[in-house]
Amino acid sequence: MLMLPNMVQLTVDDTPGGMASDQLKSYRDNHKEPHMMTTSSGAPLYTKTAVQTVGPRGPMLMQDVVYMDEMGHFDRERIPERVVHAKGGGAHGYFEVTHDITKYCKADIFSEIGKKTPMLARFSTVGGELGSADTLRDPRGFALKFYTEEGNWDLVCNNTPIFFIRDAIHFPNFIHTLKRHPRTHLKDRNAMFDFWINRPESIHQVMFLFSDRGTPDGFRHMNGYGSHAFKMVNKEGQPIYCKFHFKPTQGVKNLSAADASRLAGENPDYAIEDLFNAIEKKDFPEWTLFIQVMTFEQAEKWEMNPFDVTKVWPHGDFPLIEVGKMVLNRNPKNHFAEIEQAAFNPAHVVPGIEFSPDKMLQGRLFSYADTQSHRLGPNYIQLPINCPYRSRPHNTQRDGLMAIDSQEDAPNYFPNSFNGHRTRDDAKESTFSLTGDVDRYETTDDHNYEQPRQFWEKVLNEEARERLIQNFSDSLAGCYERIQQGMIEIFTNVHPDFGNAVRHQLSQKKH
Ligand code: HEM
Repeated sequence: MLMLPNMVQLTVDDTPGGMASDQLKSYRDNHKEPHMMTTSSGAPLYTKTAVQTVGPRGPMLMQDVVYMDEMGHFDRERIPERVVHAKGGGAHGYFEVTHDITKYCKADIFSEIGKKTPMLARFSTVGGELGSADTLRDPRGFALKFYTEEGNWDLVCNNTPIFFIRDAIHFPNFIHTLKRHPRTHLKDRNAMFDFWINRPESIHQVMFLFSDRGTPDGFRHMNGYGSHAFKMVNKEGQPIYCKFHFKPTQGVKNLSAADASRLAGENPDYAIEDLFNAIEKKDFPEWTLFIQVMTFEQAEKWEMNPFDVTKVWPHGDFPLIEVGKMVLNRNPKNHFAEIEQAAFNPAHVVPGIEFSPDKMLQGRLFSYADTQSHRLGPNYIQLPINCPYRSRPHNTQRDGLMAIDSQEDAPNYFPNSFNGHRTRDDAKESTFSLTGDVDRYETTDDHNYEQPRQFWEKVLNEEARERLIQNFSDSLAGCYERIQQGMIEIFTNVHPDFGNAVRHQLSQKKH
């Protein structure tokens, strides 16, 4: 086995085709004859190894359209990377209903036990650029697209049940703390800790991030969480709030902090490679979907804000209800077409699944289509991977840059009297009423510490607490003293032992 940094592991011996390490050979095995090479307009080529010149020493000719065609396309190969979650990998699969939840939800995907719906998953890190390492400490994205018969439903999850902030206005600024400094183009962890000191509601997610779960062992061994409260509506039009949770059949596994850093150097594509190889070996990763439900009455009475994404709904009060399983069984044939160009959007819901008042969820409803129009173009939804192919779009949206499907000669206005379109009564959203004074409500202080304290006391055991302290002190060691003190104050608010332990570790590092 020859190990090259930054590359897949090349096997010197001729292992059977199909694995990531056999990517070139597997193409040859499946294609006995090479294709005739053509220009992008399909004309066959005489050669692609020499430009057209006047005499052997040049200069080149403007009429060398073979060269122009090649270079012109290359010059435009890169599209903007995702502003967050840039690095990732994914696969196709299906979702199968194993338990009946029709009393809560009328969505077609859950309509009967045994029903299978094709789907796509993309897993990612959050803060790093497209070339960054898979194993770095970071939340992981867990984005799902279900191609249902009633349109695409995107459940754009993370591997954490909670998030750093509870008001969408903070998102761009928080993300900037993970990005590079405007002058030096260097990352600076002072920025992220500084933000967390100023927004103590982030401590719950920050503790999760610095625990063992901040460095999952690949994409196959982590949970997925819709995180926000959503709303489900049944056939009778009755709504209930819900949360979505995916748990891996192959179990949760995390890397030690040391192994995560080592792998970041030795194999930065560790998680992508692991997912690809498992699927090629037919060791299909699988997750069970559970929901939690909360009635409107329970939501009114709950001591905390049930729509605050920095909080979990305790399982004791809101038990997990099993729904079905998701299996990933097919690797993409082309990463760019099927994964890089995939556009997941929490606004893509189907009848029976609606939004809760969660401010973060509401904020996300604008951001995704907006960024995707920029990243992929205004007709990104017509790309094969994004198109709702099982229901087909029928509407009056037309034209735009790179339109692939302009719906032929169907009327481009509504209402119309020429059999253009009809609507469906049972697709109506549920009715709800709201009252309140319009204002910009600050949420810095809203039960910031109770759940983090439970995480410290009940979720983590002694060894896990020690690793958490170690991870924090290693990361804070390079920060300004004022930043260290600010974080120690927050840890102390969670639990005095926590604050004291990090203070002690940091003082040891000074000597
Ligand atoms: C106000 C809060 C948030 C905003 C404004 C926001 C915005 C964005 C944007 C602009 C992207 C890039 C999308 C693209 O280029 O296709 C993205 C990706 C993503 N976000 Fe968020 N996000 C927010 C919160 C969250 C939360 C709470 C979660 C998880 C529960 C989440 C999960 C993801 C995932 C998984 C991706 C990657 C999707 C993919 O694989 O293509 N985001 N987000």
